[in-house]
Amino acid sequence: MGWNEWIRDGVEIEPSLYAADFMRLGGQIEALLAGGSRIFHFDVGDAHFVPPVTIGPVVLRSIAPAVHAAGGVLDCHLMVDTPAHHFDEIADSGGDSVTFHVEAATDPAGVAGAARAHGLSVGVAFNPETSPAAAADFARAAGAEIVLCMSIHPGYSGQAFRPDALDRIAEVRRLVDAPGQVDGGVGETNARAIHEAGASLLVCGSAIFAGADPAAAYRRIVAAAS
Ligand code: DX5
Ligand code: ZN
Repeated sequence: MGWNEWIRDGVEIEPSLYAADFMRLGGQIEALLAGGSRIFHFDVGDAHFVPPVTIGPVVLRSIAPAVHAAGGVLDCHLMVDTPAHHFDEIADSGGDSVTFHVEAATDPAGVAGAARAHGLSVGVAFNPETSPAAAADFARAAGAEIVLCMSIHPGYSGQAFRPDALDRIAEVRRLVDAPGQVDGGVGETNARAIHEAGASLLVCGSAIFAGADPAAAYRRIVAAAS
């Protein structure tokens, strides 16, 4: 199994659990699964590549059984300096895919091979300062199954969407034959435009979790995107 099997109907809205209410994490995941979510975005930050420590394998281990029992998957976005260092623990804790950053690795094929050796699918992410052409070269070298265009500077949920991400996702999709993902400031009002620009994976943090009913927000964004 991998990304090609996970993406339903050409577009997936991925709740970004970093924005969840951790007092209520289990209930929010159960509600989202009942509401139709199947791909959950899980942000690992190391306080080096990005300023904050975010969430990691201990949390993954707690939530993975329920997500997998419902046929869901855990898409781990590694906002870290040494991605390969984390693969063993992420795979062991129930992660299904790892997306590592162009800016954090010099050996795309080697890092991707290490991920696959742990049974993990592979994505490649690029920041707003990185050119889509450089990201595309790196993604091809990694044999990436998805390419993630950051529409914010990574690190925190709740930032505004950078409109230049529309051209950037379109350009990288022209250069790489892999599904496109966009992360940062995505919600009901811009989901359609982002999908039309070439993204089939839309990561939504605060747009899903800031309100009282995450599952209802998820469904509204699915409807808006498709
Ligand atoms: C932040 C993370 C994002 C974040 C998105 O760097 O990579 O996944 O949770 O949150 P929103 O949708 O609020 O921008
Ligand atoms: Zn993310």
